[in-house]
Amino acid sequence: MKGLDRVVGEVLISQEDLKRRVAELAEEIATDLAGQELLVVGVLKGAIMFIVDLVRLLPLRVELDFMAIASYGASSQTTGVVRILKDLETDISGRRVLVVEDIVDSGLTLAYILEILRSRSPEDVKVCALLDKRSRRVVDVPIDYVGFVIPDKFVVGYGLDYMQLYRNLPFVGVVSPEALAAMEG
Ligand code: IMP
Ligand code: MG
Repeated sequence: MKGLDRVVGEVLISQEDLKRRVAELAEEIATDLAGQELLVVGVLKGAIMFIVDLVRLLPLRVELDFMAIASYGASSQTTGVVRILKDLETDISGRRVLVVEDIVDSGLTLAYILEILRSRSPEDVKVCALLDKRSRRVVDVPIDYVGFVIPDKFVVGYGLDYMQLYRNLPFVGVVSPEALAAMEG
């Protein structure tokens, strides 16, 4: 990955570690939700890599749907003001829903998504997040399945972006402080 190293300073979670942990999560979910039919809701765009790797390992009846959310504010921080760019196509009333998120930071985005979904009378809503930056939490949100708890660093790769780039990195890397300063500036 030469040429990326000025932005992506270090590998935080390797491709192998991602693969292993996603398999563990799938096994945990499959055990807990055995026999159920699940509507798996991916939050675009960050959750794309995670959701496709995860659902392939779920031996359950799975339906997929996606929603896209935009949050206002600086690109590395959420303000909690969130808006739906793309809504679900599925009626979730009476359904068992598993929301798949890339990362929970302040928790504001997830809290908003959960509020919307719960207002639609699903049978159940569970949450699976690949990354949990819990030291930054502003609102308490329940996460049923967590891939990795990570420190307060801005990360990219495996779906996560820095100014819409680096989502295609096969690992999770840390954005260098210099690049971050440029982004905020
Ligand atoms: P929250 O509402 O503060 O929990 O922020 C959640 C959203 O912020 C995530 O879905 C990401 O889109 C974005 N985000 C938060 N931290 C990072 C990061 O380290 N890298 C990339 N995106 C992030
Ligand atoms: Mg996101």
